[in-house]
Amino acid sequence: GAAELGPYRHYMQKEIFEQPRAIGDTLEGVAGIVPELFDGIGQDGATGASAHRVFKDIDKILILACGTSYYSGCTAKYWLESIAKISTQVEIASEYRYRDSVPDPKTLVVTISQSGETADTLAALKHARELGMAQTLTICNVATSAMVRECKLAYITRAGVEIGVASTKAFTTQLAGLFLLTLAIAQSKGRLSEADEARYLKEMRHLPVALQSVLALEPQIIGWAEDFARKDNALFLGRGLHYPIALEGALKLKEVTYIHAEAYAAGELKHGPLALVTSEMPVVAVAPNDTLLEKLKSNLQEVRARGGVLYVLADGDTKIKGSEGLHVIRMPEHYGALSPLLHVVPLQLLAYHTACARGTDVDKPRNLAKSVTVE
Ligand code: G6P
Repeated sequence: GAAELGPYRHYMQKEIFEQPRAIGDTLEGVAGIVPELFDGIGQDGATGASAHRVFKDIDKILILACGTSYYSGCTAKYWLESIAKISTQVEIASEYRYRDSVPDPKTLVVTISQSGETADTLAALKHARELGMAQTLTICNVATSAMVRECKLAYITRAGVEIGVASTKAFTTQLAGLFLLTLAIAQSKGRLSEADEARYLKEMRHLPVALQSVLALEPQIIGWAEDFARKDNALFLGRGLHYPIALEGALKLKEVTYIHAEAYAAGELKHGPLALVTSEMPVVAVAPNDTLLEKLKSNLQEVRARGGVLYVLADGDTKIKGSEGLHVIRMPEHYGALSPLLHVVPLQLLAYHTACARGTDVDKPRNLAKSVTVE
């Protein structure tokens, strides 16, 4: 009802603005990196499985999820391989459950789900178990869900109830949980120095304040949304950690505005999508650092030559300036490894405000459901 919405027009907007609180709650009580954060939830108050024992033993991670949760998994792969030095594979649950794969019992199967009830993710988990992978962990927003019951280990995100069909605060809290998981695995394997632990904890504790300053970019994003509302197509580019964020940005735009949006790894621009660029195709570039910007400059000429317009979400420490056909929003800071959590927020706001300008049903987009409990 209107009372619950407070000053917001829709749940999606309210949930975007709740992210500093949601991340704060998710990280509350995290005094240090301990694998116990992921211990199993035992039935009837009994102690569950020990995460430390599991983490020490595994040499691979297999992440299974759908939709937005799949993109948080894609982001975590970069962290897990670079910080915890553990080989990580991320699969769309509906693909994994039906394909032949090569199982390895020393794999930790990680499911990610807001609802904990997504049919394909649950089936993919069972499939992995049937293949002999007994070590299972879930990052989930609902403590009483089937997913939490089915997995040995669990981490409950504290996004709170998410009502908007397009996931926002669940995504960023999943990222926070996955970052903690990365550190906990690194620690169990003796790959996390005390200095790095202290630095990462400090960066995580800064997240609520950092998110608040990113939310303050809303007026600039509304300016971009006015342009996007008149388009039928959009292209999102990202690299590294921000490639999954570009994918998530494109998904958000599709879901709530019905604008056809695609995301590409920036280096692939020349290998196909450049052919689509016209004055009717806005191109969003996520978080380019200065090296990527150097590369983007030549792409930019090509995009400009075709009348395309670039919307660059520049990292806090880049020097890029706006010009004709090049719109820049500079992030307030440089965020290091946690950068994806911050850069997704302007993209959520872009989708939200573009939807408002187009007058779509933001919280209940056509043909979509909050939780897909049937195949
Ligand atoms: C649906 C929702 C998405 C969500 C996906 C996976 O498609 O509309 O927002 O990302 O399901 O849901 P889950 O609850 O497993 O994260």
